[in-house]
Amino acid sequence: MRVALIGLGAVGRGVAEMIAKKDLGLTITGIADSKSGCMDCNGIDPQRVLAQKKQTGACGDRSITAEDIIRDAEYDALIEVTPTNALSGEPATGYIRAALSRQKHVVTSNKGPIALAYKELRTLAQENGVTLRYEATVAGAIPVMHTLEHGLCGNEILGIHGVLNGTCNYILTRMAAEGLTYEQALMEAREMGYAEADPTYDVKGIDAAIKLVILTNTIWGNSVKLSDVDLTGIDLLTPDALRLAEDEDCTIRLIAEAIPEKHLLRVSPRIIEKNHPLVVEGTLNALTLETDMAKEITLIGKGAGSIETASAIIGDLLYIRDRYGKCT
Ligand code: HSE
Repeated sequence: MRVALIGLGAVGRGVAEMIAKKDLGLTITGIADSKSGCMDCNGIDPQRVLAQKKQTGACGDRSITAEDIIRDAEYDALIEVTPTNALSGEPATGYIRAALSRQKHVVTSNKGPIALAYKELRTLAQENGVTLRYEATVAGAIPVMHTLEHGLCGNEILGIHGVLNGTCNYILTRMAAEGLTYEQALMEAREMGYAEADPTYDVKGIDAAIKLVILTNTIWGNSVKLSDVDLTGIDLLTPDALRLAEDEDCTIRLIAEAIPEKHLLRVSPRIIEKNHPLVVEGTLNALTLETDMAKEITLIGKGAGSIETASAIIGDLLYIRDRYGKCT
């Protein structure tokens, strides 16, 4: 299957590295970063492009843009992994629209378009006979969407509760375990590439809230927005608050939860007992799905990271390849 890759930050690099390393049957025919691009219908060596990007800061020709690749390259699926803009969803929403309109499948890790324009984009995909997949938008490597779509498909989902932001979880873990200040722990998370391009998205709970919106709209088919989420971040938490929780054999985690029956849609720091299933460490995410038949299912896995997020992207690509076998 031929793919075009738009975005060469932490996630894009992870995807390119895994396509180069593993024999996945995926050929990259176009790559763009924010400054440049390259196209070759016979296939591009991702390792060469990554090396070039490291050396020169650009992945290809500065006259070739992401729009050029989406419009002109020969590909079956677009991989859209540019940074999230939660306010406008752009330029990613435009990229996705353009690819779907060309009857190309789309796989994205970009939360903006899915949180803001999911219904429109899903309809556009249906009208064009292609699919839009977004496993990587929620909980990094954890196959939440696949679990909902397949393993739990006969269940009614009654509620969800989760740790959905790896950066906040990393910060809370480091503050509690090492006594780091909030600023020190955030700096570490940024250095390790977990945080968003704008880390206020993470620490103010916006990233977790966007993921909650995506999950809510996916599960219950409604149209909630970021502004519907009752939102508190971790940016005002002090090491003292964590120490007080510790004295009670508890800890603090940023919990996202949605329970339609109670009209609850909330992200907030919560004091919880240390042996609770949602108390996970570092960049782990955890999500409990309350269901009618399976009862409670808790999924745990890496919620952020380059290769971990690439795992979700590649899972979506191979799902498309297997389902729509006509791809070359
Ligand atoms: N900044 C996000 C997080 C990346 O820390 O969870 C994954 O969406």
